[in-house]
Amino acid sequence: MAPRKFFVGGNWKCNGAGDDVKKIVTVLNDAEAPRAPSVKVVVSPPFVFLQQVKGLLRPDFAVAAQNCWVRKGDAFTGEISAEMLVNLQVPWVILGHSERRALLSDQMISLSGKFPRKIVHNLTFVADKVAYALSQGLKVIACIGETLEQREAGTTMEVVAAQTKAIAEKVSDWTNVMLAYESVWAIGTGKVASPAQAEEVHDGLRKWLNTNVTPAVAESIRIIYGGSVNGANCKELAAQPDLDGFLVGGASLKPEFVDIVKSATVKSSSA
Ligand code: 13P
Repeated sequence: MAPRKFFVGGNWKCNGAGDDVKKIVTVLNDAEAPRAPSVKVVVSPPFVFLQQVKGLLRPDFAVAAQNCWVRKGDAFTGEISAEMLVNLQVPWVILGHSERRALLSDQMISLSGKFPRKIVHNLTFVADKVAYALSQGLKVIACIGETLEQREAGTTMEVVAAQTKAIAEKVSDWTNVMLAYESVWAIGTGKVASPAQAEEVHDGLRKWLNTNVTPAVAESIRIIYGGSVNGANCKELAAQPDLDGFLVGGASLKPEFVDIVKSATVKSSSA
């Protein structure tokens, strides 16, 4: 089986006002190009900048949306549908980010009837989003991860397995799915998971997929890590055998994102 291609995603979250978009893209465009066969780079600006970033960005980098609606567009004010992203030729979408799971609508809407009526578990809602986005031809970065309380209670694997199981129940073809393991306690806190902590979860996820999906999916799926990744800690994390890249928040707005992209060379040199 072909080695898993390293992936570095930059999740800009709700940032990019003023001149920021141009500044960030200029840094990326001027950066010494990482060797295309060894790393895939995708940046995810807010919806309103997708078109602009796509137009300005070097052709070897791609864009992702940060969310999309769970099914075909209709009377859902403020939402963006998967079809719209496809129309704009946006190839990727991040779904189920913990900030959406915890703070925004990804935990409280169900699909019953034309309008959401019933509160359902957020796992189902995110899994439905993943399945719908895939059905429209998008590539999905599906986020999973435990809170600090869950980690301290020793339930990390149970939590991420349940999140992955919800997706597995809705998805049969995993070709266009990537898992982003983002330990919630590490997001935006400066407290990065240690390489051993990250590897333990990534390895556990692969074992879960091996048993519950197929050995081929377990082997081929990319599992990327997110949570306070920066230019200083990325190489050690990248060296972990089951870690296939990063989803970067704060550091994706800074020039050090280029260093994170270059950490892919840790993999190619060990291959
Ligand atoms: P930080 O890198 O800012 O911790 O954010 C991680 C994240 O949420 C990426 O999706």
